[in-house]
Amino acid sequence: MYENEKKVSAMEALKHVHSNMKLGLGTGSTTKYFLDGLGELVKSGKITGITGVPTSLRTADLAKSYGIKIENNLEGIEIDFDGADEFDGSGNLIKGGGGALVREKIVAYNSKEVYIMADHSKFSEKLHSFPLPVEVLPFMEDVTKKNIEKTGCKATFRDGKNFKSDNGNYILDCRFDFTDVALEKKIKMIPGVVEVGIFSGITTKVFIGENEKCRVMDF
Ligand code: 5RP
Repeated sequence: MYENEKKVSAMEALKHVHSNMKLGLGTGSTTKYFLDGLGELVKSGKITGITGVPTSLRTADLAKSYGIKIENNLEGIEIDFDGADEFDGSGNLIKGGGGALVREKIVAYNSKEVYIMADHSKFSEKLHSFPLPVEVLPFMEDVTKKNIEKTGCKATFRDGKNFKSDNGNYILDCRFDFTDVALEKKIKMIPGVVEVGIFSGITTKVFIGENEKCRVMDF
């Protein structure tokens, strides 16, 4: 859906990349447009000396296929480029639809700037449309699920426990009527929870594809 808007936002964000930068590389279909564009610039030699810190195994494979140098070292990441499942007017995000939320949050938290690329449909006045992804350890996970549900949601194991993250954990997709950012800390306190897909106070820009144009929100 909205493939062209995803591409428009990714191409606008890509304009901020120049030679010799260290970048966080997100995960998902919008980030793939960004990586495809970056790959072309690297392959043609228009941009050189890029180092990428990938947020998933599939992003690492794609970046490598374009000859982008990969490093698992968080030091000195200038800009992290990633997508989102939902964003609000303050740059708060729901992420993890692709199951990469743990590594995405580690990389975003440790980057000087975090640029989010999204089509216009991902905007919500209040985060609520996308079920909140929560990564949990595969140990007594049914109890962890019940404890998460006590915070006011209905949780479902992604793909009936057939989905495992790159870290070997399960993802619970949690339906709340309204995802208050305060839930991030509340859920993270529950034993067995590895990470929560609420990203709050991290975003510095959102590139929003709107038909053929891109609007940028700064924070
Ligand atoms: C993966 C993510 C993605 O950024 C999010 O799911 C958006 O993906 P897409 O660009 O395919 O809509 O958080 O864990």
